[in-house]
Amino acid sequence: MASRLLSSLHFPARTVPIFRAYPTIHRKMSIFNASRLQGKTVLITGASVGIGAATARLFAKAGSNVILTARRVEALNEVAEACKVAHKESGLQQGGKFAVVQLDVADRKQVSSLLEKIPDELRKVDVLVNNAGFVLGTEKIGDISEDDMENMFRVNVFGLISVTQLFIKDFRQRNTGHIINIGSVAGREPYAGGGIYCATKHAVNSFSGSLLREVVDTNIRVTEIQPGMVETEFSVVRFRGDKSKADKVYEGIKPLVAEDIAEEIVWAASRPPHVNLAEIFILPVNQASPTINYRGGK
Ligand SMILES: NC(=O)c1ccc[n+]([C@@H]2O[C@H](COP(=O)([O-])OP(=O)(O)OC[C@H]3O[C@@H](n4cnc5c(N)ncnc54)[C@H](OP(=O)(O)O)[C@@H]3O)[C@@H](O)[C@H]2O)c1
Repeated sequence: MASRLLSSLHFPARTVPIFRAYPTIHRKMSIFNASRLQGKTVLITGASVGIGAATARLFAKAGSNVILTARRVEALNEVAEACKVAHKESGLQQGGKFAVVQLDVADRKQVSSLLEKIPDELRKVDVLVNNAGFVLGTEKIGDISEDDMENMFRVNVFGLISVTQLFIKDFRQRNTGHIINIGSVAGREPYAGGGIYCATKHAVNSFSGSLLREVVDTNIRVTEIQPGMVETEFSVVRFRGDKSKADKVYEGIKPLVAEDIAEEIVWAASRPPHVNLAEIFILPVNQASPTINYRGGK
């Protein structure tokens, strides 16, 4: 009698269907498994410096092939060399093919002839990282030059859309592919002095959202990464080469670095095929929005 009571206490009948209802409870997990990226081909725009260059190096380390594009070919070649070293150090057998292609994403002719410039063996792109982008100036609305306005939209918005259009048809045909767009905290919340840049990044957010919805009946994945402050050439470009003004942006705060964003990009790309990280909003500690931050903690 006592043993019958004990067994019913240890193995109450109602627990059995609970365990059966969750068979995936024993699924193998890993902290950061990037093995799915081995042998995959990744195309990155704006890969000559900053976030794009760091992303190229990390994909190389994960065993991917990388097509590096930007306007500055010499800088791209240096990144390609760093990719070769990263791949060699990884000891991985797959991947390790790197191609440099000069590409101004704002130049329609260059975009439309991009595929011809990619070596045959790398034409089947698996991951597209739309990273090329920039900001110019802090002028208030009314004082913004027409050229700055046009250039920011041409690169950040039209360039990103043109490159996406180039690859989406092939992704649809193969029913696979991952498009990773680099948006910004400025695409979530506008700020004074960023009238055009914020508008371009809001456009990236909206375009990424439409794309995500349009490919819902496919295996294509769409991710938008929205970084806060990242210390790269970004602010030097904004202040037209004035490094001291650029340095002031990061004064008293520990900003993100390019590698922090590269890790998020590679993390998103390496998730299982049924997982789509639609948005990643990443800030440095001590930044809460484009304008709310704490500068006493560096
Ligand atoms: N840094 C930040 O705080 C921050 C925050 C949020 C979002 N972002 C976004 O992150 C992305 C990368 O920026 P970053 O911080 O790495 O800045 P970065 O160091 O200035 O790098 C920008 C990259 O974009 C490329 N690029 C610029 N114009 C181009 C064009 N017309 N065609 C092709 N490539 C072009 C540059 O290459 P070439 O000059 O060689 O062409 C460079 O490789 C951008 O979309 C930016 O808006 C940055």
